[in-house]
Amino acid sequence: MKPSRFIEIERATVYRGDTCVFNELSLTIDEGTHAAILGPNGAGKSTFLKLLAGEVHPVPHDETSIRLFGEEQWNVWDVRRRLGLVSHDLQHQYLEQVTGLKVVLSGYYASIGIYGHQDFTYAQISRAHAVMEELGIGYLTDRRFADMSTGEQRRCLLGRALVHEPTALVLDEPTSGLDLTATFHYLDLVRGFMKKGKTVLLVTHHIHEIPPEMERVLLLKEGRVLQDGDKALVLTEANLSLLFGCPVVLAQANGWYQALPGHSA
Ligand SMILES: Nc1ncnc2c1ncn2[C@@H]1O[C@H](COP(=O)(O)OP(=O)(O)OP(=O)(O)O)[C@@H](O)[C@H]1O
Ligand SMILES: [Mg+2]
Repeated sequence: MKPSRFIEIERATVYRGDTCVFNELSLTIDEGTHAAILGPNGAGKSTFLKLLAGEVHPVPHDETSIRLFGEEQWNVWDVRRRLGLVSHDLQHQYLEQVTGLKVVLSGYYASIGIYGHQDFTYAQISRAHAVMEELGIGYLTDRRFADMSTGEQRRCLLGRALVHEPTALVLDEPTSGLDLTATFHYLDLVRGFMKKGKTVLLVTHHIHEIPPEMERVLLLKEGRVLQDGDKALVLTEANLSLLFGCPVVLAQANGWYQALPGHSA
């Protein structure tokens, strides 16, 4: 049986201002495949996430299409219901006064914060509480977002991305700014969702964020896919040195990877 598609991008050319970030980018990811898109600063990672969120659009062309879950992307609300997006931009956009519970609840509307016209059912509110308990942030229910640590904010945003029970989670550099305990805890949560059958797409330049269960890695540089395939074949010292433009030594332990400077002995 043909697998269902999660992301299907065909020949998308995308500009941000005067910069052509993607020139006829084509890329397909199936549902159920956990993948990491790895790329240096300026590679186009954030632009890629904005493309998925419908915040930037490709230059219209007959041969260009973007489908999420088999749907054309302009059906943005349907798609958002199936997608849980955790991005940095989001974290910075949050208003100081929003409490933890409301941050999580806002996931039902894929909105920033909560507005007067949004009503929530009893079931939605109890689901938000349950998600917060699951993430270990029940104690943040009434705390303002501005008064939380970076790790707490990050877990609240994960709750926001999960509350509406999406089939796929897209994470943008999820552990940057987190200390070791918070990083390990966050990655444990992500691995838990992978085991529960959610498709996880990680977009990052941190190699150590790639969980052992993630099977596919795409290397993105200057808007082009340099390599795409099985993690063990793609994550090599030669490929990473080329990707980041500096010599990289790769360390591995228990299925995790870490990049270090220099040349192999
Ligand atoms: N509004 C804009 N106007 C002009 N150029 C832009 C704009 N936004 C992004 N760019 C350019 O597009 C390219 C890709 O940017 P993008 O933010 O997608 O990179 P990134 O991979 O997320 O990098 P980082 O790891 O630093 O976050 C960069 O060269 C950037 O300067
Ligand atoms: Mg970025």
